Amino acid sequence: MPAESGIAEAAAVLRDGGLVAFPTETVYGLGANALDARAAARIFEAKARPSFDPLITHLADTADLEKLAGPVPAAVAALAGRFWPGPLTLIVDRPAAIPPIVTSGLDTMAVRVPDEASARALIRAAGVPVAAPSANRFGQLSPTRAEHVVRGLGAAVEVVLDGGPTRCGIESTIVDARGPQPVVLRLGALAVEELAAAVGPVRVRPGHSGQPVAPGTLAAHYAPRTPLRVVSGVEPPPGDGRRRGFLAFQEAPAAGYAAVEVLSSDGDVTEAAARLFDALHRLDAAGVTEIHAEPAPEEGVGRAINDRLRRAAATWDTVD
Ligand code: TXA
Ligand code: MG
Repeated sequence: MPAESGIAEAAAVLRDGGLVAFPTETVYGLGANALDARAAARIFEAKARPSFDPLITHLADTADLEKLAGPVPAAVAALAGRFWPGPLTLIVDRPAAIPPIVTSGLDTMAVRVPDEASARALIRAAGVPVAAPSANRFGQLSPTRAEHVVRGLGAAVEVVLDGGPTRCGIESTIVDARGPQPVVLRLGALAVEELAAAVGPVRVRPGHSGQPVAPGTLAAHYAPRTPLRVVSGVEPPPGDGRRRGFLAFQEAPAAGYAAVEVLSSDGDVTEAAARLFDALHRLDAAGVTEIHAEPAPEEGVGRAINDRLRRAAATWDTVD
């Protein structure tokens, strides 16, 4: 359904305990009523998501945070005030109204206000906070278009709201600002440089696997079905007849690849992030045996792009 005209019907589905996929400025989310444990359980089922991977709760307005969670630490409130609506997820104590399944049993909750009018209108119309992970099966590429959701989840979702391609194209930055210095738990669409400019030095927790509190930081995640390898240059691949795909940051390789995607011919990391998952979805559908991906410059949202590429690559061991 078109995002604007489908809101009333989608909100009713949410209130009835159903699942609605909807666009945000980052990626499409798979939403359920965050106050309803059974509805939240359906998200885990539809995504084949392990129960240890907590969900992000979405609110319509910044003022709704204290209504739901009560007073929050000053640094958390300051970040919300500065960056919401926007691609920043904050960690707060789990409110009593939020059932533990939403936070996978953690006593903390991840929460954000998306910067996408139709998403906020949907949450407002539903009248409840909306738990929503990215609308893909666990471990796979995040959806940046409604078609990606339909292809990946299909009949598991009652309604898919179509708002076209998402603006940022990469998930929100997750920050725990409850301690003396903010800690970035997941690199994302809000550049860490921007965070640091607003609140002073931030620490970025290096990615690692097996950490139950932030499985978006699992070493192997965000993966296309085709094996992906991060390469440092654009030399043509060995002429062994295998069809390979190339994900270029700025410049297409001269020859030798069966399919090529260029993320930003201007070398703009923000544009590149917006196109990343879409390009990977296309390379995944191009019938290649391997994807070679060139890293982005390690600055701004480029850091988040490289984070996703490393995790996609970590899914596979390639032996030539
Ligand atoms: O941009 C986004 O954040 C998108 C859109 C839909 O809002 N959502 C998204 O959700 O990326 P998901 O489930 O794919 O990733 C959420 C990440 C997971 O890695 C999860 O572990 C982490 O948030 N998370 C959730 N609750 C947490 C908590 N209490 N403490 C630490 N990490 C948490
Ligand atoms: Mg996800």
